Amino acid sequence: MAPNPTGLRKGLTSYGDPGFSLFLRKAFIKGAGYTDGALDRPVVGIASTGSAYNPCHGNAPQLLEAVKRGVMLAGGLPMEFPTISIHESFAAPTSMYLRNLMSMDTEEMVRAQPMDAVVLIGGCDKTVPAQLMGAASAGIPSIQLITGSMLTGSHRGERVGACTDCRRYWGRFRAGEIDDDEVGEVNDQLVASVGTCSVMGTASTMACIAEALGMTVPGGASPPAVTADRMRVAEQTGTRAVQMARDGLSIDKVLTPAAFENAMRVLLAIGGSTNGIVHLTAIAGRMGLDVDLDALDRVGRETPVLLDLKPSGQHYMEDFHRAGGMATLLRELRPLLRLDALTVTGRTLGEEIEASGPGFDQDVVRPIARPIYPQGGIAVLRGNLAPGGAIIKQSAADARLMEHEGRAVVFENLEDLAERIDSDDLDVTADDVLVLKNIGPRGAPGMPEAGYLPIPRKLARAGVKDIVRMSDGRMSGTAFGTIVLHITPESAIGGPLAHVRNGDRIRLSVRAREIALLVSDEELARRAEASPVVAPTAGRGYRKLFLETVTQADQGVDFDFLRAAKTMGKVPE
Ligand code: FES
Ligand code: MG
Repeated sequence: MAPNPTGLRKGLTSYGDPGFSLFLRKAFIKGAGYTDGALDRPVVGIASTGSAYNPCHGNAPQLLEAVKRGVMLAGGLPMEFPTISIHESFAAPTSMYLRNLMSMDTEEMVRAQPMDAVVLIGGCDKTVPAQLMGAASAGIPSIQLITGSMLTGSHRGERVGACTDCRRYWGRFRAGEIDDDEVGEVNDQLVASVGTCSVMGTASTMACIAEALGMTVPGGASPPAVTADRMRVAEQTGTRAVQMARDGLSIDKVLTPAAFENAMRVLLAIGGSTNGIVHLTAIAGRMGLDVDLDALDRVGRETPVLLDLKPSGQHYMEDFHRAGGMATLLRELRPLLRLDALTVTGRTLGEEIEASGPGFDQDVVRPIARPIYPQGGIAVLRGNLAPGGAIIKQSAADARLMEHEGRAVVFENLEDLAERIDSDDLDVTADDVLVLKNIGPRGAPGMPEAGYLPIPRKLARAGVKDIVRMSDGRMSGTAFGTIVLHITPESAIGGPLAHVRNGDRIRLSVRAREIALLVSDEELARRAEASPVVAPTAGRGYRKLFLETVTQADQGVDFDFLRAAKTMGKVPE
């Protein structure tokens, strides 16, 4: 992009008379009460995702005001515009089904409307990846503003926050340890304010990843939604966007292989959500970069988990913020980072770490010599059950189960699971392996976070807290357990998972990075022939587009036609 902001002149649909087009454009915007003096400036679009259906973005009005102030202080013209907003609890069949739609909305509105730079306001799980994917494809100077985490609440003297504690209390309720009244009481406390989930779920993971990618102002990941720190970050973001427009600091200069490598390091070091891998793969794909899962696993072996946050550790996002946020983490990780990666500030990540000063005593980010977990939180598995790979969040798994062989207890799909999981007749023991099919990208569809299979009620009552579970789906970053996810290719398109039967033996070895179905190739081929898989289709609409073009987990579950046309290389390099 040319260094000179083109402002409202950008993309005039002239039909032979650009002067008239600009004349019309100005007439309409003046109709909204603007003077000529307001118009001849760099235009900063602000993608606003406030929605009554999205309490994670409940501070959007205040953020908008602060961004606009920042833009105007720097001499720019702020122009907010709406896009799709997605919340985890209010999007059916699953938020992931809509992520690519939001990315297309973001990309095309950034492209269509005159703006020299764009501020992306996102927070809830799928919104930040959707915005980064869209902005990466649109290509103009772009900067991410995170909405920020919610505050923690208190239940009978115990600190609680969404949604690791949601799961914990619901588990206790299912096991009959707490009653209706108490589960209602804790429900009041789990989400104590607007903002995103307060643990290291996908929203917090993507916030940290956005900062690690260099896509936010320094310190942009951690301030809670309702704090003055968050509002000041918003003001700085607006100011920075104007300068990015003036400098022509387009997104391709920030989203480089070095930036993705840093983001992966951070994802592993924070014990981040497994969803982060899928999203990073999709964002990288928009830049023509392929995520190399085996290289990621190697990087994981040498990247310790340093951040002591739930669900892998004990603290909440607001504690991370008090401990200095990403500056503290990046300082510790420094020897493992690509310090030359450029950020939205126009300086490198190394320069920003340098500028953040020496740090102080705190107990949320561990020193690299004394990690909370010696290797990266996520391991990549392969084997005849997952030729295209699968993953496990080992930092949130039961160490006892990570080398395990057991008998498969198979559920064909979500309905089958709902019907039988709590039945007293279910033939299951704590040594078995629960297998769920048909929750992959095309299976459910949208690869829902159903990979966190509940412990069968009869085992839960007997005090069983963990059991090996596996599927082609995803899992919420706020969940924990010995759970294998993203089995690729998925069962709905005929992956080997489709042919697992009750009673088959399955071996999981995190040490050997292996997931094996102990059934011969010949037998699997026989089963495939006897019961061929018919992939799901749809007759019309978005569902048709989705089912016909969605890619597998190892491609980021993006639509095949949205990926960059040209392949530029692999990450991590
Ligand atoms: Fe929005 Fe958890 S539901 S971040
Ligand atoms: Mg989530």
